[in-house]
Amino acid sequence: MNIYLVGGAVRDKHLGYPYSERDWVVVGARPEEMEAQGFTPVGKDFPVFLHPKTREEYALARTERKTAPGYTGFQFHTAPDVSLEDDLARRDLTINAMAEDRNGNLVDPYGGAKDLASKTLRHVSPAFIEDPVRVLRVARFAARYHHLGFTIAEETLTLMRQMVDSGEVDHLVPERVWKEMEKALGERHPEVFVQSLRDCGALAKILPEVDALFGVPQPEQHHPEIDTGLHCLMVLQQAAVLSAAIPVRFAALVHDLGKGTTPEEEWPRHIGHEQRTLPLLDTLCERIAAPKEHKRLARLVAEYHTHCHRALELKPTTLLKVLKAADAFRKPQQFEGFLLCCEADARGRTGLEQRDYPQADYLRTALRECQSIDNREIAAQGFTGQAFGEALDRERLARLQALKRA
Ligand code: CTP
Repeated sequence: MNIYLVGGAVRDKHLGYPYSERDWVVVGARPEEMEAQGFTPVGKDFPVFLHPKTREEYALARTERKTAPGYTGFQFHTAPDVSLEDDLARRDLTINAMAEDRNGNLVDPYGGAKDLASKTLRHVSPAFIEDPVRVLRVARFAARYHHLGFTIAEETLTLMRQMVDSGEVDHLVPERVWKEMEKALGERHPEVFVQSLRDCGALAKILPEVDALFGVPQPEQHHPEIDTGLHCLMVLQQAAVLSAAIPVRFAALVHDLGKGTTPEEEWPRHIGHEQRTLPLLDTLCERIAAPKEHKRLARLVAEYHTHCHRALELKPTTLLKVLKAADAFRKPQQFEGFLLCCEADARGRTGLEQRDYPQADYLRTALRECQSIDNREIAAQGFTGQAFGEALDRERLARLQALKRA
């Protein structure tokens, strides 16, 4: 049997990009031989084994045949006569279809090295269209390698469009969408993921509420970029600069969905968009199976980001209302995420990317002031139950009043 390093590790090695996982392909072996050598079988649908020591994945070389729509509709074929080239041919992108033998020699039948050099994300074969997850994967790789200059080949984008038009992407299940989206949001340029989905028409199917923001104007005075879709991409980029946290980046992308349903006669103003965002956000989160934590922060940012922008003008009672709505006393970390999103919102505007955002520090101080109240002192005054809560709020308001005067 012959063993080859394949997939992402070969790609990233040649790119000088860090990688942690290594995948291997075994050619010329039967499952029984793998087990005899101490490998543990783990594949449900096709033979994949874990190495007895490294626990890395070793898959028998295989070919695939499409039998039904969706990403699970495949029949796999493995046999000792399936060649390395056969196995590489079923893969998505040329840069993912390279292999390395045990001496480090590159096996590259589909031009992966050339596409790495020209920074091109290009499909291997027309069979690319058989797996709808690949639309998300290509958009994700575009996001990951954007800073290196990678772009999607025009002919691959054409196939992606075809998969949207044929309805193939409609077969993506929510969990799979979220899995890819979560990874994409973690990349250095997550906005390129969203833009790439838009370029092939998939955004209208996967995140229609975000797609609807393109072409919707905002007042030029506050939004020199004007277009709401563009603004949301810029906010996502700024959020990625400010935070590595996925909930923060997700919330940044979806904070303005309500602007997509503003009646046209009200454009470019969007009064009440904060409230209109909430039901759209709930629908979106359900469609892509976004986790509760992400949804919670996104709802918070959607509802209160304009309050945050006006933090320095807010009355103490309103400030306290925002702190409570954000559950800032019990979840200070979530509140910090909220502040970062609001800062990203303020900066995700053309020409304003470097602006200061004193509102965030003001609210941080407001929270600290309230946190520094000694509950024991209030209890010592004899307050219990509801009266205790009221006394605590009076003290909090006094502190916020003092902060405002300072
Ligand atoms: N692959 C594919 N089509 C898919 C999923 C995977 O062709 N829908 C192939 C690609 O050759 C890929 C390899 O399987 O390189 C391993 O897949 P995976 O581990 O999911 O991705 P990586 O390319 O290793 O990328 P990452 O760095 O994100 O793990």
